[in-house]
Amino acid sequence: MRGQGQGRIYSEEALTEIRARTDIVEVVSGYVLLKQAGNTYKGLCPFHTEKTPSFTVSAEKQLFYCFGCGAGGDVFSFVMKIENMNFGDAAKMLADRAGVALFQDESPKARAAREKRRRLYDCMEAACVHYQAVFANSQEAREARDYVKRRGLSEETARCFRLGYAPRAWDSVLRTLTGSGFSREELVSAGLIIPSRSGKGHYDRFRGRLMFPITDISGRVIGFGGRVLDDSEPKYLNSPETELFRKGRTVYGLAVAKNSIRRESGAVIVEGYTDAIMCHQFGFTNVVATLGTALTKEQAETVSRYAPQVIIAYDADAAGGAATLRGMEILQGVGAGVRVAVLPAGEDPDSMLRKYGKEALARVLEDAKPLTAYKLYRIASQTDTSRLDQRVRAAKEAARVLANIESDVERVEYAEKAAKMLDVSREAMLGDVNRLVKAPASSRVKSRRQEGQDRFEVSRYTSFKDDIARSGEVAQVLKAERLLLRLMAENKAVLEMAAERLNWAELSDERHRALAEAIQASQDTHSERGERGSSPSRRAIEHIEDGEILEYAAGILVGEDEKLPDDLKKAAEDCINVILEYKLADRIREIEKELMSLSCTGEMQKSRELLAELGCLKKRISEELQPFRGTS
Ligand code: GTP
Ligand code: MN
Repeated sequence: MRGQGQGRIYSEEALTEIRARTDIVEVVSGYVLLKQAGNTYKGLCPFHTEKTPSFTVSAEKQLFYCFGCGAGGDVFSFVMKIENMNFGDAAKMLADRAGVALFQDESPKARAAREKRRRLYDCMEAACVHYQAVFANSQEAREARDYVKRRGLSEETARCFRLGYAPRAWDSVLRTLTGSGFSREELVSAGLIIPSRSGKGHYDRFRGRLMFPITDISGRVIGFGGRVLDDSEPKYLNSPETELFRKGRTVYGLAVAKNSIRRESGAVIVEGYTDAIMCHQFGFTNVVATLGTALTKEQAETVSRYAPQVIIAYDADAAGGAATLRGMEILQGVGAGVRVAVLPAGEDPDSMLRKYGKEALARVLEDAKPLTAYKLYRIASQTDTSRLDQRVRAAKEAARVLANIESDVERVEYAEKAAKMLDVSREAMLGDVNRLVKAPASSRVKSRRQEGQDRFEVSRYTSFKDDIARSGEVAQVLKAERLLLRLMAENKAVLEMAAERLNWAELSDERHRALAEAIQASQDTHSERGERGSSPSRRAIEHIEDGEILEYAAGILVGEDEKLPDDLKKAAEDCINVILEYKLADRIREIEKELMSLSCTGEMQKSRELLAELGCLKKRISEELQPFRGTS
């Protein structure tokens, strides 16, 4: 439910404040390249694949709608959808962005903490800008620029990933940032400087290093990785854990890669910063990196929020192999589909791209192995097949892997492959496997992702497209209702007329009823408060709580790509007539049917009531609908 989170209710003021300070066009522009066309903006829809833009953002209405896939809503819905967040998190993100306190009851302490965090973000950003400037301009950074060039990274790539250089001095970031008004205390909490042992002074954490800024999913800098330019140790120095930077939660490059991950429905996870960056440079834009540690559950969850399929492309050394297996288990645990790209021995994605080029990596990614195949491959690669004892051990291990495969067909196929790889007899391999399979199998749990799909993808409402599938008459009425709602949102006189002639309950679609109520409610509070400025439809949508109804409403209000008729009132009257006529005719049919069946049972009282209602309905038709007939 919108408006609530963790048992707390967001203050209406806060949400209104966020809306007032947030421009949907700006927010969407962070994800989609928009082109202006008057008061609306068009771009390629981030929610489905398309070649011509049907994704529309209305600046005036502060709504988005895609004419291709029907996705739509306000700025909250957009963030929820694109970041796969619940309302609470989306509100938090937008509140943060707009500098609004989300909860009314924010204590002075909470307020101070929020302010402190904001300062920390500013501090990290300022440091990033500093390192970038040093990298681009300073004499000292020449070595770093040469290094980057030598590694084959283009200037554009360096800019895109905001590479920087921390000079050798002990107080470069210290002096620059205190000069910009940050306190030493703040710089310490940001992990940029370290108190010296004597306890008196401070010095820069990063010195003489190539700097890789690490960002959160919205691209805010939260930490750095710094690489030496030679072979000294440690090769990489990372920011410490800070209030902003939690290694186990952060995925390097996700802010840059997420759109492409979503588009391709798949992500690639590599080990190193340079691997990720080089992949992007070669056009593999759905690549992210872990931060040199084993993949955590939180990282796996974060990545799989953007894509159901993940490929692990870790270094082909022993450590990489072990990390790969663990990573696969973790990713499977959060419901992602996982495959492993097996790199040539001794290579990482970066070195592979530079040595063998784009095609080679593309092939490796395409040939990525599912978990079972990878496990078998690993067993085989650790086996000296010329020795019987090794073959026996390996076959036993392989049998355990194979016994876990659910499908009989798949199991037999893999068993045959395994038999070949390990050079054992096919029958013996299958025999071993079958013996294990007969043992009681653990019950299979449905993956979280599948459950999630069941939960989210079954809409409570029929879709726009279903309307068409209904009978022609119903489609006509629904169309009339949609146009009427648009007109009501545009024009106060129309709204008043519609309210007088129609009972909202007479609208045929639940969403239409909700939208009508919202439009009326916004009109009522509007006249009370005597506000001016925001458009009527913009105010109306603020009264809709339900995200699905909001999506549908956005489709109507953004305009179904049709121009409004010149005579709004006349058009509205036509709509109302269609709606009423259908409604009344429908009810008349119903009553007639009921009267027929009653005539058999002889329930006089009920019959009389129905006849009276029938009379009223017919009178309404002649009085309310006939007069308008002549005018069309
Ligand atoms: P290059 O040598 O620059 O190509 O680095 P790489 O990315 O190939 O590094 P490597 O495969 O050795 O390590 C992968 C990741 O582990 C790096 O991107 C770092 O995040 C992390 N890492 C590597 N060395 C260190 C280290 O000495 N300290 C820390 N904290 N992390 C490291
Ligand atoms: Mn490397």
